[in-house]
Amino acid sequence: MKRKTLIVWSILAVLLAFLGWRFVRPMNIFLVSEAFERPVDSSRIPAGLKGLGAEECGECHKEEYLEWSSSIHSQAWTDPYYQVDYLFDGAQQICLNCHIPLDRQQEHKVLGFRDSEKWDPILAPNPDFDPKLQNEGVTCSGCHVRNGTVLGAYGHENEDHPVETMEDSNVICIQCHVVQGERWDTFYRMPPCGTVAEIRAGYGKQSDRSGDLTVSDLGELGCVECHMPDVKRPLVEGGKRRFARRHTWRGGQDPEMVKEALKIALEEHALPKNGKRRFVLTLTNSGADHYVPTGTPDRHLTVELRLLDGRGEVLEQERHTLKRTIMWRPFIIDLWDNRLARKESRSYALEFDSNREPDAVAVEAVVRYHLLDEARRKRIGYQNEEPISYEVFRRRLSVRPTFVMEDKETW
Ligand code: HEC
Ligand code: HEC
Ligand code: HEC
Ligand code: HEC
Ligand code: HEC
Repeated sequence: MKRKTLIVWSILAVLLAFLGWRFVRPMNIFLVSEAFERPVDSSRIPAGLKGLGAEECGECHKEEYLEWSSSIHSQAWTDPYYQVDYLFDGAQQICLNCHIPLDRQQEHKVLGFRDSEKWDPILAPNPDFDPKLQNEGVTCSGCHVRNGTVLGAYGHENEDHPVETMEDSNVICIQCHVVQGERWDTFYRMPPCGTVAEIRAGYGKQSDRSGDLTVSDLGELGCVECHMPDVKRPLVEGGKRRFARRHTWRGGQDPEMVKEALKIALEEHALPKNGKRRFVLTLTNSGADHYVPTGTPDRHLTVELRLLDGRGEVLEQERHTLKRTIMWRPFIIDLWDNRLARKESRSYALEFDSNREPDAVAVEAVVRYHLLDEARRKRIGYQNEEPISYEVFRRRLSVRPTFVMEDKETW
């Protein structure tokens, strides 16, 4: 009897110690996969080129250079939010392999790893380190230069540098945006920075989460089609006009892009009972093949429905958040996720009794996109200069039966 009790207590103690350790252990929220465990070898500069910097490429490819300069990729290192977050997370080497992917962009070379999970790299000073190239973040060569040649999608004849034709250009995007791994204690396998886990290239474990798109070949991913709009233009000054793609990569930082992803409508639904009114706001993810919002778990949408009186005072209010909520400790579990899956629609209603709300004049709906979670912003001590959220929809409908003021404005 006594021995039994002792065994039970020992097991409990071990279990508690284990859970306790999981609460304090350094937490690696993603798995380091082969796709990004090391920086890209950039020791060979393609024949005919002077260097790997964006300005060098831009001397001939002006349009691509200007577009890239305005994109988030060019700020993947200098972005002040990234810098604060990187330091908050202990300035780990692994972050660099996607945010400054070329080895010349990194102060240290990665010689190997001390641990099997590859979180503890063996580093040595890098004599080829180029601080200017570092500031270019995801630079031209980070996507285009491999083994001393330029990867291209078309394979046109070209006397200035060698080109190797890629089978499919989406292969570039998935190196950093669609990475996954598996381990026993990670119930929700979140890729680094949470980016586009829900589009899968038909490899790895398939998921039955609703809205996941499983494709059988890379071409179906569509990242390039949606994020690099097509255009006809010469690739170099005086060159032939060709099929090309804008290097803009708009996403959550661009209100117009987010609006493109969503169809939003506010309308009154008739109710059988006298005096009862019901206004319904419907959001549909009609423009993205992944969740909206996607990317880092910070990104979320808020929906507000209000009943207003003549002075604009709020009589009743409903507020909803569309977000992925994750429990980090002791295990990483995706607690709930009410973001909009591909093609999914969601409705939110505001109901009231017009006999009880004689002062009601209008129903207003506001949808906002949030780049950052306010609590996290405070925790990591990030002082934003730009707003961290913006409006993507606002509409008012009159509730006065006498002057039904249907504004048909949609965007
Ligand atoms: C001295 C001028 C020059 C420089 C510098 C230059 N390129 Fe080019 N590049 C060209 C020309 C010319 C073409 C062919 C244009 C055409 O076919 O119309 C080309 C074509 C390309 C293509 C398309 C290849 C395909 O599939 O047909 C890519 C991608 C490219 N360059 C990337 C780069 C990158 C990245 C850099 C910098 C590392 C760079 N280029 C630097 C002149 C240059
Ligand atoms: C070398 C890694 C890497 C590659 C390759 C890459 N990206 Fe990115 N991408 C990033 C990083 C890092 C960011 C975030 C930068 C930041 O906000 O600091 C990003 C941001 C973005 C954004 C978000 C913009 C926003 O508003 O937040 C879009 C869209 C995007 N990438 C699309 C693409 C597409 C499409 C491809 C393939 C053509 C691609 N990326 C290839 C690393 C990469
Ligand atoms: C995030 C990855 C990424 C970065 C960074 C990037 N490119 Fe590209 N680039 C692509 C992809 C993908 C294509 C092919 C698009 C397609 O499939 O048609 C492309 C196509 C091109 C082409 C062929 C013509 C065209 O416009 O489609 C040129 C030239 C080019 N890039 C030059 C550059 C230069 C110069 C820079 C830096 C200023 C740069 N790229 C930065 C991914 C990138
Ligand atoms: C059918 C069009 C479509 C396809 C296909 C698509 N996207 Fe998007 N993507 C969008 C739209 C629209 C947005 C803006 C809404 C949003 O941020 O959720 C977006 C947003 C993003 C963002 C921004 C996230 C952020 O935090 O700001 C990233 C990163 C991204 N997409 C990457 C990808 C990658 C990688 C692929 C391919 C695996 C891909 N997308 C395929 C339409 C598309
Ligand atoms: C596998 C590639 C990869 C690795 C490794 C990685 N990131 Fe990212 N990171 C991305 C991509 C892709 C995005 C863009 C996602 C999006 O737009 O939502 C991003 C976005 C971010 C952002 C958001 C910027 C914004 O615009 O809101 C921050 C901050 C960030 N990363 C920090 C880090 C830190 C810190 C590390 C190391 C612990 C790290 N990243 C490791 C690929 C990576």
